[in-house]
Amino acid sequence: MQTQVVIIGGGPSGLLLAQLLHVQGIEAVVLERKTRDYVLGRIRAGVLERGLVALLAEAQVETRIATQGFPHDGTVISYDDQHFRINFTDHTDHPVMVYGQTEVTRDLYDAREKTGGTTFFNVEDVQIHNADLEGTTRPRVTFTSDGTDHEITCDYIAGCDGFHGVSRQSIPQEKRSEYEKVYPFGWLGILSETPPVHHELIYANSPHGFALCSMRNDHLSRYYVQCPTDDNVADWSDDRFWNELRRRIPPEFAAKLQTGPSIEKSIAPLRSFVVEPMQYGRLFLCGDAAHIVPPTGAKGLNTAASDVHYLYRALTAHYRENDSAKLATYSATALSRVWKAERFSWWMTSTLHRFPQMSTFDLRMQRAELEFLRSNTAAQAALAQNYVGLPY
Ligand code: FAD
Ligand code: DHB
Repeated sequence: MQTQVVIIGGGPSGLLLAQLLHVQGIEAVVLERKTRDYVLGRIRAGVLERGLVALLAEAQVETRIATQGFPHDGTVISYDDQHFRINFTDHTDHPVMVYGQTEVTRDLYDAREKTGGTTFFNVEDVQIHNADLEGTTRPRVTFTSDGTDHEITCDYIAGCDGFHGVSRQSIPQEKRSEYEKVYPFGWLGILSETPPVHHELIYANSPHGFALCSMRNDHLSRYYVQCPTDDNVADWSDDRFWNELRRRIPPEFAAKLQTGPSIEKSIAPLRSFVVEPMQYGRLFLCGDAAHIVPPTGAKGLNTAASDVHYLYRALTAHYRENDSAKLATYSATALSRVWKAERFSWWMTSTLHRFPQMSTFDLRMQRAELEFLRSNTAAQAALAQNYVGLPY
């Protein structure tokens, strides 16, 4: 089999790239290790930057988001007995869109099915060949799907297969540098069919640890509390979760919190990670395959989308205008924005969480950071610009 681009990974990065390429008349084959239902069952991000919303429109999958997404003009931040609001639209003229990653992925799979694009599910033993060779030898990707061996020859490979995928590992170790920070806590998240406690998100730094009140719609709430990395979900009953959340958010919100049974509960570790470069010959990495952010500030999916934007533009220039300059500089262009998202996520995480063994000095610094943010318009503008998304 032959195609122009093989996309390894049918998560949001891979599907968005496939759909954008399709709109430009560029053929791609998507390889996904799991099933469509499995991918759609993963509850992850919920806040979309305007750049991602615009990309979804460019990919012609804007219908549901336009009717079922919720634009948010600001967010609440709380610490000690204070809380304040940061207004995004005042500072940037733009809101963010609350619309779940599950829905984004569903819209993209539905669109892909309509286009008739080839997607292999349940793929195993994916191997990349000849990605590094210049000249006439084309790259190949071999894999098995439902017990049958396959081989696809292509021009380019997009590694969109997440943090544990094969694409990054296919770059020889001596050709890549990895930068990592592992945080000494995780997030315990639940989804519950209850109305959100507030119409905007609440990020809370409390003496008992971080908490986040988020949502998917008017009757579906998403809440998180900071927890030790080695905690077991089984030890967190719903009651324990609700009690912990209640004591971490400001009393006026805690009093209004409506609780109910959780319909999903999981613990995610927090990590910052970047690989450099994000390309190796004709293999290009996008999204979690190349970088991870801690979730504070909702940059994971959004940074994946900016990579897709750069790669899609570069491939379009190559195929439609015979101009390969953007492909040559893909890694540098993408990394310049990636590191800014890394900085913002690291800063939000550092400012809002309680770290083990924080000294009284560390606590005062954190409080000073938050008081500066509460009282300083320029600091609020900087947060707003990063939160709604830096320009591509
Ligand atoms: P992924 O979503 O990881 O998709 C990669 C796909 O590749 C998967 O479908 C996988 O099955 C497939 N794959 C893997 N290996 C192979 C292979 N060898 N061959 C073929 N296919 C393969 N971000 C936020 O902004 N907010 C959040 O609240 C948030 N919560 C998160 C919770 C968890 C538990 C995790 C893991 C991430 C979370 N993120 C969050 C991050 C966000 O979900 C990711 O940044 C986003 O999913 C990245 O998309 P992606 O397509 O690059 O990678
Ligand atoms: C959500 C997750 C985040 O990490 C965040 O900063 C905001 C919202 C969410 O899942 O809704």
